[in-house]
Amino acid sequence: MNILVLHGPNLNLLGRREPDHYGSLTLDGINGLLQDAAQNEQVQISFYQSNAEGELVDAVHKAIDVFDGIIINPGAYTHTSIALRDALLAAGIPVVEVHLSNIYCREDFRQHSYISGVALGVISGFREQSYLLGLQALIAHAKQTSG
Ligand code: DQA
Repeated sequence: MNILVLHGPNLNLLGRREPDHYGSLTLDGINGLLQDAAQNEQVQISFYQSNAEGELVDAVHKAIDVFDGIIINPGAYTHTSIALRDALLAAGIPVVEVHLSNIYCREDFRQHSYISGVALGVISGFREQSYLLGLQALIAHAKQTSG
């Protein structure tokens, strides 16, 4: 199994960015945890972060026929990007949407996601654990659908 982790805008600033919402781990720290967890599960994992919507769309296109699952934290594009939603839908790769903070406890504008409707599910509010739970969810989904 080959999984792609996509991180959206401003997530490169994790560690210094609003730690009350996002915790104090850096993006490299989160990727390291995911790498270890994937290795334990004998799963291949790759990481990509961009602050640009089009680059994230391109990354989804390039994932076609390469990756079996996508974990995405779309950052603020969660709440704005029909283009990213359309790309994920077109790619047809199982997606789990993750958020460090619980977007449903925050400002009204964060409480709608354009991505959720094309995802298998959403994990929101568990800081870096959201990503690790997302990985478990994708692996469980792959086992269910292959057997
Ligand atoms: C976020 C939540 C978004 O509303 C915000 O714009 C982010 C991070 C999260 O992980 O909690 O950049 O996706």
